[in-house]
Parts: sequence; structure tokens; C-alpha cells
Amino acid sequence: AIERTLSIIKPDAVAKNIIGKIYTRFEEAGLRIVAAKMLHLTREQAEGFYEVHRERPFFKDLVAYMTSGPVMVQVLEGEDAIARNREIMGATDPRQAAPGTIRADFAESIEENAVHGSDGPETAAREIAFFFKPEEICPRTR
Ligand code: CMP
Repeated sequence: AIERTLSIIKPDAVAKNIIGKIYTRFEEAGLRIVAAKMLHLTREQAEGFYEVHRERPFFKDLVAYMTSGPVMVQVLEGEDAIARNREIMGATDPRQAAPGTIRADFAESIEENAVHGSDGPETAAREIAFFFKPEEICPRTR
């Protein structure tokens, strides 16, 4: 089915000036960018977005990292977009990520791992609504 997923290009990748290289990966995978914005997350935004990880030992570091510089946030749309995006991102830990995936090619570490992608339909709906109003999403008509 056609799905939407929330994608974030994280501060390490924005700092490396590879937004375009990562966008090319999305496009070559058949994913369309139907909404996008650059923003520098506040601590409150980063904590809210990663709420489910609040009790994890890496939570404080994760929030510090995600607020360390601007991020690029986008909604990707396409056939099986959620799983497709996770495939092309590769495993969370770049050392475990399959060759040719975004994380294998561009990520620094398990924390500074270049990209985020929603992990399921409910998460995708929540994460998209976290960053975008419905009218900020532009479905393709051609
Ligand atoms: P993401 O897919 O955005 O979801 C949670 C993030 O926490 C993850 O990517 C990493 O950036 C970070 N993360 C996950 N596991 C660890 C870990 N073991 N140590 C540090 N950071 C982690």
C-alpha cells in the first residue's frame, strides 16, 4: 500500500553537507518527498519526539546530540514507504548496517547515525503529526 513515513536527517549528516546525497537515496528508492523543513530542535522538541526512549540510558545524550545543530525533517511517500525507508537506512548501528545503506555509508556511530525513520504505521502517524500540519503535506498529483 502507499504509505507515508517521517524521516529526519540528523545533525551529523547536515553538518557533513550530505542532505542532497541522502535525498538522492530516497528518490532512487521510489520514495517521494511530500513535505520538508529544516529546523534546529529545542530540548523540549527533542524530548517530546523521543518520549518513548525517556528511560533509556542514552536518552540524555540523544537529546544533546539531536539539539546540537539543524536537522532536515521530511515526509516520504510511496509503496511500503515505512519498510522501504528502513531498508535503505540500514541498521541503527552503522557497524551492523548492510553495505550500500545510508547508515553504512554515512553514519558515525550508533548514536550519530545520520537518519531517523518511523518504525511502524502508528509511529509514522504520530511522528508526521509532531512536525507537520496536514496542509503542509503536498501529495503528488503528477
Ligand atoms: P533512531 O532510529 O532515531 O531512534 C532512537 C535513537 O537513539 C537512534 O536512532 C540513535 O540515534 C539513538 N540510539 C539508539 N540506540 C542507542 C545506543 N545504544 N546508544 C546511543 N544511542 C542510541
